[in-house]
Amino acid sequence: MPVYCITGANRGLGLEFVRQLAKTPDNTIIATTRSMSSDLDDLKAVSSSNTHILECDTGDPSSIESFTSETKKVLSGKKVDFLLNNAGVNSVPTQNSLSIGPEDLQREISINVIGPAKTVESFIAQDLLAQNARIMNMSSGLGSMSVNLSINPRKCATYGISKAGLNMLTVHQSGDLKGKLSDVIVICMDPGWVKTRMGGEGAVLEPEVSIGGMLKVLHGLKDGDNGKFFTYTGEEVKW
Ligand SMILES: NC(=O)c1ccc[n+]([C@@H]2O[C@H](COP(=O)([O-])OP(=O)(O)OC[C@H]3O[C@@H](n4cnc5c(N)ncnc54)[C@H](OP(=O)(O)O)[C@@H]3O)[C@@H](O)[C@H]2O)c1
Repeated sequence: MPVYCITGANRGLGLEFVRQLAKTPDNTIIATTRSMSSDLDDLKAVSSSNTHILECDTGDPSSIESFTSETKKVLSGKKVDFLLNNAGVNSVPTQNSLSIGPEDLQREISINVIGPAKTVESFIAQDLLAQNARIMNMSSGLGSMSVNLSINPRKCATYGISKAGLNMLTVHQSGDLKGKLSDVIVICMDPGWVKTRMGGEGAVLEPEVSIGGMLKVLHGLKDGDNGKFFTYTGEEVKW
């Protein structure tokens, strides 16, 4: 049965991934949390006996290294079939292109872009990914140039710039990983505007619907999908 790894699983969309996947008790799930001292009650409540909760601060490359070593021990020879780089931040949503805080942008890039890059790099170094691994980088419509051109006034500049960077990372990973894993598929996804802490006021989608759709897309991926950007309904998003 498949092995799933989900970052940022203690709440929000990551938690919903675990809730749905843990309903199939044979699924092995690596569910990560930024800190083991976070409130993990919700995550423990939805976990199966095959769910392993591990610490990974995706904004800290040394934490990612420790986490992948720990994952290697936990899986003892098994490989990860689905790596879902879900953890992310949008901590300064009111900044626009004329008020970007350099440290804010650096932090968002560190978590939203460098985190998924280093996680994949470290999984490759530890030989933890299956030959036909599916890697999903959790993006946003706000990471699409085309979508942003139609949003007036523009919003969440700092976050959007980081997610556009994540989209470009996806395109590079989809090429670079082909030399390492013959049947790998790397994509990025827009989950829709979902009712989580990040989604905030006005969000329209239930996490159950967004994640149910994303899992359907992930389970139906074909070779030609490598390097593409999809919505949770499976439609391709224009860059
Ligand atoms: N909700 C939406 O409408 C929406 C729309 C588009 C894209 N997204 C994307 O979907 C993903 C999940 O968002 P969400 O709505 O579930 O947000 P959320 O409710 O704010 O949850 C974010 C998750 O990411 C974790 N995280 C943040 N920084 C981390 C770090 N440095 N190391 C490890 N974990 C970290 C958080 O852990 P802590 O509890 O420790 O902070 C939390 O588990 C994000 O990538 C987000 O950009 C969401």
